[in-house]
Amino acid sequence: MKKIERSTVYLEENLALLQCPVCKEAFQEVSNQGVKCANNHHFDLGKKGTLHLLLKGGQNDYDKSMLSSRKALADTGFFHPILDAILKHIPQDATLLDVGCGEGSHLHYLTEQGLSGKKIGFDISKDAIQLAAAHFFDDAFWCVADLAQSPFGEKQFDAILNIFSPSHYQEFNRVLKSEGRVYKVVPDTDYLIELRQRLYGERAYENDDVVARFKEVYPDCIHEHVRYEVALTEDTFRWLVEMTPLTWGASEADIESLLEKPLKTITVAVSLLINR
Ligand SMILES: C[S@@+](CC[C@H](N)C(=O)[O-])C[C@H]1O[C@@H](n2cnc3c(N)ncnc32)[C@H](O)[C@@H]1O
Ligand SMILES: [Zn+2]
Repeated sequence: MKKIERSTVYLEENLALLQCPVCKEAFQEVSNQGVKCANNHHFDLGKKGTLHLLLKGGQNDYDKSMLSSRKALADTGFFHPILDAILKHIPQDATLLDVGCGEGSHLHYLTEQGLSGKKIGFDISKDAIQLAAAHFFDDAFWCVADLAQSPFGEKQFDAILNIFSPSHYQEFNRVLKSEGRVYKVVPDTDYLIELRQRLYGERAYENDDVVARFKEVYPDCIHEHVRYEVALTEDTFRWLVEMTPLTWGASEADIESLLEKPLKTITVAVSLLINR
């Protein structure tokens, strides 16, 4: 079956997971062209079977080259210990929404590890969703959409993955089932600290505001720390430099001199926050 046909079937079977981003009504019609709501708002399915639900252009700095490097790094297992920590808490058949899913590697790995529920990944970057659609596994669906106008149905999801991506707690609470959980990953102070030191001297990451905000919304939450070191090769170091927003503030000359002397190891340190 072609990707667009698979996506049409997926939409027919799971239409309640989505809603029209314009009028917030349910979608009523599905064809291999796309979906339509009762008020005739129509959204297109792309060739790769992805659905475009943005109201206006939403490209950002997460472009194809950056996201391809992120995918190459993710393929080495760079983020697996974080995802393994999430797997310890998440029900096996959870219906998942991956917010700001980027190039889609996280949903792919979680599926390989046995998560068998329906999965939707969305991102505001078209390039991200193009790359994500190259991951091929059952029960996943990818759309270009904006968290601020989220086109997802009410009380449909058991779990929201919010990994290094922006949050909108009012929206999270609307789309989650009553027992649903948010799995939020935020960098800790030492996240990629060796890279920060090389680029900017001693600049630690400040996550206090983000963590405090989560705890304000979900006072009873679980807060775990996941910390590990990753050995780097020349290639993995380059992918790391290319994929992280951390290097966006650096000059080309700084990046060149960084790549001339690759780091041998890097610290990954994050907070995993889960509401209860
Ligand atoms: C640091 S990346 C993380 C991507 C992925 N979760 C990962 O861990 O590899 C942040 C992502 O959030 C996406 N994003 C930013 N604002 C968004 C919005 N309003 N709606 C949806 N996605 C958004 C970006 O396009 C980007 O792909
Ligand atoms: Zn509509």
